[in-house]
Amino acid sequence: MQKPAILVVDPAHFNVSYVINPWMNPAEWQADPAAHQREARASFDALRTALEAAGAVLHVVPGVAGLPDMVFPANAAVVLDGRAIVARFACAERQGEEAAYMAALKQYLDDGVLQELAIFPEGCFQEGAGDAIWDATRQLFWAGHGQRSVAAAIPELERFFGRRVVPLELATPQFYHLDTCFCPLSGGEVLFYPPAFTPGALARIHELVPPAQRLEASAEDAAAFCVNAVCLNRTVVMARAAPHVRAMLTARGYTVADVDLSPFILSGGGAYCMTLRLDRASHE
Ligand code: ARG
Repeated sequence: MQKPAILVVDPAHFNVSYVINPWMNPAEWQADPAAHQREARASFDALRTALEAAGAVLHVVPGVAGLPDMVFPANAAVVLDGRAIVARFACAERQGEEAAYMAALKQYLDDGVLQELAIFPEGCFQEGAGDAIWDATRQLFWAGHGQRSVAAAIPELERFFGRRVVPLELATPQFYHLDTCFCPLSGGEVLFYPPAFTPGALARIHELVPPAQRLEASAEDAAAFCVNAVCLNRTVVMARAAPHVRAMLTARGYTVADVDLSPFILSGGGAYCMTLRLDRASHE
């Protein structure tokens, strides 16, 4: 079997210098930028090791000076079955990433990893796999909207991939991307944080995910960015695991591989945000 291919972005240009979500803390970063940069490098290396130990092959792309949040390539694009559609960022601070990710992904067209590359229409904000998560069990995309991505991106996703897309409206600025509060697992369970969703979105989740497959994260799990996880086969890679989420996943037979990602949590991102699965396939 082919090993999972995951794109990550080198953290050399990572910092926390602006605030576009409630977790971001430039003052704390500024108190000692050199120490935070060192810690970010160590965290990145630890995440890389954990993903490789879980069976992935990593593609490390260089970052770009002045685009600190490029270390979160989950927001770069939505990828499925060799087709990729590049994001349109809602915040001016990240819009420069669109061209940078487009250039990075073009290489994979040449390599044959991707067969098609498009971009959302201008003004149609959609922040990549952070807000469009493929669920192989149910054969559909769950699409977050209402904070960064717009509802108008849903028909674009449907058109481009020709797949079912289930919109999930996000209720709070804390959980501004779907990947911060929603994570389908390989066994068909869905790990999610209910208070992040509007009543309508919760009703949709309940309709499509039977009670036995609902794993509800606690407030502590969600604040520790443990829902923002990468599931590779039976291993779930995440930021330092709160006891509740660890027990819940272990009871279902998953192995939790947790990594100290505190420098990136200072920017409001965790393990899933820091990855883009290049070989995401509809059947798995
Ligand atoms: N500071 C980044 C932002 O606010 C963090 C992005 C995290 N990415 C994610 N997919 N949740 O955009």
